[in-house]
Amino acid sequence: MGPAGLLAAAFLLLAPPLARPAAVHFREQFLDGGKWKERWVPSQHRADYGAFRLTAGAFYGDRHLDQGLQTSQDLRFYALSARFQPFSNQGRPFVVQYTVKHEQKIDCGGGYVKIFPTHLDQKNMSGESPYYVMFGPDICGSDTKTVHVILRHRGRFHPIKKPIRCIVDGLTHLYTLVLNPDRSYRVKIDNTVVASGLLEDDWDFLPPRTLNDPAVGKPADWDDRAEMDDPGDAKPEDWDVPEFLVDTSAKKPRHWDDATQGDWRPPLLPNPRYRGEWRPRKIPNPKYKGVWPHPQIRNPDYAPDATLAVYQDLGVLGLDLWQVRSGTIFDNFLITDSESYAEEFGDETWGQTKEAEHRMYREQIEAEAAANRKRKAGRPPKKRKKKPPATRARKEEL
Ligand SMILES: *[C@@H]1O[C@H](CO)[C@@H](O)[C@H](O)[C@H]1NC(C)=O
Repeated sequence: MGPAGLLAAAFLLLAPPLARPAAVHFREQFLDGGKWKERWVPSQHRADYGAFRLTAGAFYGDRHLDQGLQTSQDLRFYALSARFQPFSNQGRPFVVQYTVKHEQKIDCGGGYVKIFPTHLDQKNMSGESPYYVMFGPDICGSDTKTVHVILRHRGRFHPIKKPIRCIVDGLTHLYTLVLNPDRSYRVKIDNTVVASGLLEDDWDFLPPRTLNDPAVGKPADWDDRAEMDDPGDAKPEDWDVPEFLVDTSAKKPRHWDDATQGDWRPPLLPNPRYRGEWRPRKIPNPKYKGVWPHPQIRNPDYAPDATLAVYQDLGVLGLDLWQVRSGTIFDNFLITDSESYAEEFGDETWGQTKEAEHRMYREQIEAEAAANRKRKAGRPPKKRKKKPPATRARKEEL
């Protein structure tokens, strides 16, 4: 090898590997008017599914860019899906991302997506259609404000064990799920990681890797009581008094009949001096050694599984939802094999319009509050030249 060859070899060693271009399996921003209807298929599984419409909603950052699919009828099921070129995520990261906005002060409703196998009959898609991945926020009352991550494995559906809270503030948020080939995962909201770890640890796909060694017991002298009774504390002499006292002021009723009602007894009254059972005060245990670390052994039932979250025939993205109060807007769908590309795409879509959206939202709230104050003051609101933004925002029904 000549000096030029050596130089080239050195360069190859030092140069960072060329980044592989991101594979984009599915991208949908609803930027071509009514043409989305050629790409999305409504299910006919039920006759009364709610209708989606294309709109940026009552407030937005950009009237055109922020158009997405909005649920438009209350108390309805929704079922709509779009197909993409089938692919397998084996050996590659699998990234699902979209934006969702609950501008209707949502009380109960799903905001999640499902990824289905290629063979899904889109016209018959329903809550019973088996999916591979279900991901995104779900809100119902004050108890359920969660982000679902449900993954199919060997025919069963496994929800993530870590609770993840979704954001409920009426604004658009970016949800991202990353499943990596090393069986790690990340969930991000607004490009910030809210949960991460290993699939094995955070779902119950597999039995645990290790077990407590049944052959080893806790040593007899291992003290794992963090607190103990204070030996210096003694029961006060006047502590023990009866819990109840006979009501000496009570008199036997005149019409009391011992023969039929039994012997009359005066009623009992709670003793105000009764303080319950005496317990010595607690002090830190000086012999406390902490929780005994039970030695572990390998679990013979455990075997790693290389097929966790590996899906051979991904082919359809669907919205299969129930909504009480409608108004949720879905937009900026992306399925790719590159987390960094997804991050960029999120920054260029949601990231570009979120501040203007928030501003318009605040202005509407302030305008409404001002109108309410005027109404409360008893004066009819002055005739405005301009309509307030809430009604000016045109609902673009198609
Ligand atoms: C539609 O799906 C259901 C299950 O959800 C199934 O029982 C039914 O046979 C399907 N109908 C058609 C026409 O494929």
